[in-house]
Amino acid sequence: MESVEKTAAAGPAPVIVAIDGPSGTGKSSTSKAVAAQLGLSYLDTGAQYRAITWWMVHTGIDLTDPSAIAAAAGKPEIVSGTDPSAPTITVDGTDVAGPIRTGEVTSKVSAVSAVPEVRARITELQRSIAAAAQDGIVVEGRDIGTTVLPDADLKIFLTASPEARAARRSGELKGADVSATREALIKRDAADSSRKTSPLAKAGDAVEVDTTELTLQQVIECVVTLVEEKRAGK
Ligand code: DC
Repeated sequence: MESVEKTAAAGPAPVIVAIDGPSGTGKSSTSKAVAAQLGLSYLDTGAQYRAITWWMVHTGIDLTDPSAIAAAAGKPEIVSGTDPSAPTITVDGTDVAGPIRTGEVTSKVSAVSAVPEVRARITELQRSIAAAAQDGIVVEGRDIGTTVLPDADLKIFLTASPEARAARRSGELKGADVSATREALIKRDAADSSRKTSPLAKAGDAVEVDTTELTLQQVIECVVTLVEEKRAGK
């Protein structure tokens, strides 16, 4: 009896939600909003790969040499703040939220994130953050459902047509050329999908949501409903 009361007072059990998909599918906006609405933590794993890439560029590591990338992979301290209303990312104490979004980092992040030692390091960090999230967490990335958290309670794979993804990304980049953005995005997705170690992929048990014709609000509502159904045991 006592344990039943304790369970009821403790609220819903922590829920782990993995949201994967290529860039421009609305992963970040959706993941943050779903986490905020449901009182969960939020982790942007792309920001971690961008942060380690930023550090390597900043430190002068030769990014054409995978062994140099591998040797440096354990050096920087990367810390992610998981409040969905104000996520943060620091490298050795420096706030890099702005610098990790530059074109230079974006063009180099696929090469850095393909190196197995980098993935092992960042994956371990991601698992420890998810394990520490007491109320549960929404983790977004490319390999969360397949590799990082294969036992996640709910796995979502977001997709959208290349045109829709390029249009959204150019909007975010404040009017960048749509066709150039489309080419860069297709190139990055191809690199992320074809690498040997934990490529961008849909887990067999993930729910696929095609966001091409949906507004952001509709995608958020769809994912919130899926989490609530999961929590209700449906
Ligand atoms: O989501 P994003 O565009 O900020 O991600 C940046 C890059 O990081 C992306 O091109 C591939 C890599 N990435 C990854 O390899 N695995 C993840 N779980 C998340 C991102």
